[in-house]
Amino acid sequence: MQISVVEKTTQRQAADAIVIPFWQEKKKAVAACDAKEFAKAYAELLKAGDFHGKEGETVILYPSKGKEKRIILLGIGDKKAGSIDTFRRAYSQSVKAALRKKMRSVNFILPSVDWVESPVLAKAISEGILLTNYAFDQLKEKVLKEDPHPLLVKGCLIGCSKKDHEIVKKTAQIVSVVNFVRDLVNGNADDVTAIALSQAAKDIEKQFSKTVKTTILNKKQLEQEKMGLLLAVGKGAACDPALIVIEYKGDPKSKQMTAIVGKGITYDTGGLNIKVAGTGMETMKCDMAGAAATLGILRAAAAIGLKHNLVGVIAAAENAVGPLSYKPGDVFRSRAGITVEITNTDAEGRLVLADALSYVQDKYRLSRMIDLATLTGGIVIALGEEATGLFSNNDALAKALTKAGDLSHERVWRLPIYAEYKEYLKSQIADIKNSGPRKASSASGAMFLQQFVKKVPWAHLDIAGTAYLSEPRTYNPTLATGVGVRLLIEFLENL
Ligand code: BES
Ligand code: MN
Ligand code: ZN
Repeated sequence: MQISVVEKTTQRQAADAIVIPFWQEKKKAVAACDAKEFAKAYAELLKAGDFHGKEGETVILYPSKGKEKRIILLGIGDKKAGSIDTFRRAYSQSVKAALRKKMRSVNFILPSVDWVESPVLAKAISEGILLTNYAFDQLKEKVLKEDPHPLLVKGCLIGCSKKDHEIVKKTAQIVSVVNFVRDLVNGNADDVTAIALSQAAKDIEKQFSKTVKTTILNKKQLEQEKMGLLLAVGKGAACDPALIVIEYKGDPKSKQMTAIVGKGITYDTGGLNIKVAGTGMETMKCDMAGAAATLGILRAAAAIGLKHNLVGVIAAAENAVGPLSYKPGDVFRSRAGITVEITNTDAEGRLVLADALSYVQDKYRLSRMIDLATLTGGIVIALGEEATGLFSNNDALAKALTKAGDLSHERVWRLPIYAEYKEYLKSQIADIKNSGPRKASSASGAMFLQQFVKKVPWAHLDIAGTAYLSEPRTYNPTLATGVGVRLLIEFLENL
């Protein structure tokens, strides 16, 4: 979707509809912008009390003349009680109203709000619009035949200063990457394999050859690197595991370097400890959401020319069932030299991550290291789909990530890695075992990862609840959310 901006209403071009925002005030809606031009069209409706300006409320009017065939009145809620996310959610509803009527172009008037700075407002509203203008329907035969472009192709923000145009453009670049991540996560597991993830990484290098370099370690190279855990998890699958490394040099003069590490389990059957009915195996194509987000973060950084050096590492494998699958009770040696008893083949994410974390710390001088992983069902129990679980060995890093979460509304909530959790991972026959009891399973997962972290500020983001929703919600119109991209770009920009 093309998004443009104009400062004044008079500068806009014709479109299928124009969106006018309204505050909700004691039962009566009040225009949140200069709407004199349209007052005649909606006066009687307001008088009748049929529109209140409640957040997300929409009414479509059909004026006899004007640049647009339709006027969409949009409620943006209480002037004093709102937050930045109110604007994302509300403008999302106006896009949904437009899509229901198969509109292709919409002019959006921005509200005047005194408690939020104009670039922040322009960014939030663009995000609400662009994130909603997404569908994953290429697998529906009907959509393919009848309507190949069921989305908005043009949007114009009215009342946006020239100064804020840059931020809107940048937001559009970032959201198009979020949508690319959503496509990867929603895609069939049989299509989005370790090979496909490697190809996606190479595509980034091709598109941004000046700043991006990609290296892919195949099975043989993983053996040379002694990545016994990643190899073990990938043993049972038809597609070999891989380690995908993407370097982005955004600030060649700086020694600062941030590592982003993603769990790339392209499908998680649970392995020989197979996921039984009712435990959600059918959602497990989402288990590479951390990897997809990692690709997205690198791609977005390159696209916007982020002034920071990054290295993205993806541990890609399929946790499959077959005669070669790794077996519960066996012991494998990690790249770091720590031996691990497999007490549950379904705790595979921490295994592939452990080797990836070890690799990136040895090969690069890191300023910080952040991993993204759909690691535990426990985090969904703790936080639902509302927040990502954050575990960290560094308070400043945890604080900065929490702030970025609040700004992007990809919220994160910190949980502890108490020393006691190490007891949960004691093994009789190896240095450590890969799964503990049910209690505090997210924290013991984090504790497992921490065994492979040296002296570097590190954060683990458990996105099992936030990466793939059970039902569409506000500006996340399909299952995969693309979580992590907006969060970490926000974080990196504020470093
Ligand atoms: N991929 C799952 C975690 C998951 C659950 C992701 C729900 C998305 C939604 C992970 O590999 C897993 O199976 N974790 C186990 C670990 C346990 C065996 C220690 C879990 O959380 O039950
Ligand atoms: Mn698993
Ligand atoms: Zn998994």
